[in-house]
Amino acid sequence: MDTAPTLKIAPNNAAFHTLAADIFMGALNRAAAKNGPIRVVLPTGSTPLGLYRELIAHHAHRRDLWDRFHYVALDDYAGLAPDDRRLFSNWLARDILTPLSIPPTHRTIFNSAAPDPSAECARMDAQLDSNGIDIAVLGLGTNGHIGFNEPGSAFDARTRLIHLSADSLAANAAYWGGMDHVPPTAYTLGLGHIMRARETILLVQGPHKAEILHRMLHDPISTALPATALRQMYNVTIVADQAAMSAAEPSPQT
Ligand code: F6R
Repeated sequence: MDTAPTLKIAPNNAAFHTLAADIFMGALNRAAAKNGPIRVVLPTGSTPLGLYRELIAHHAHRRDLWDRFHYVALDDYAGLAPDDRRLFSNWLARDILTPLSIPPTHRTIFNSAAPDPSAECARMDAQLDSNGIDIAVLGLGTNGHIGFNEPGSAFDARTRLIHLSADSLAANAAYWGGMDHVPPTAYTLGLGHIMRARETILLVQGPHKAEILHRMLHDPISTALPATALRQMYNVTIVADQAAMSAAEPSPQT
């Protein structure tokens, strides 16, 4: 079986978000064919914001799907109080979960303030081992990270506490108005969990992602570039805009 990711290319910014929403809704409908909760990993960051707006504006009426939707955290900062607005769980609550009326009981999130990070990782591992992931929506870091699986992360890694790399600290500074506001440590699901997702959608947008997308698709598969792990997975769709694809593929499949 071929594990090559499927590439879907949008010509511009607006088309990127509608294409991402269509592909996401397709995955959600497929996942709904099984019984029970539909467990979905969602990223924060700037790339998925248009997708979330699109889902709220045009797909909120699909209560048959949203009532079964269960958000599973991909990553989050460590050591913050539950009401800290920087928590990714709170960011996603504001931008998608609350607008789509996903109740707190349908959210598997990190307890950022957990006194024992190892126990917190073990709790998430147990959740993921029992329930798995139906759909993983992911973003691509400019250093090739997936979640906070920074370069060097093992492909079978489990949930763990990490120190943000310099690249990730700088990227996150843009969200919170400077480096001083970025927590230095974070929890992340390991690639070992993410790679077992039944379907994966990687969102890549903008010219600043062109080089890393090209490397992700063409460099040797290696822990030095965590996103290359997606080339060993089945059912991966990469949704990119033309700007991100410019360096990646000579003749993209649309
Ligand atoms: C965020 C996350 C990160 C981002 C990635 C891309 O929860 O896990 O891996 O998806 O850094 O971020 P943006 O979209 O801001 O370029």
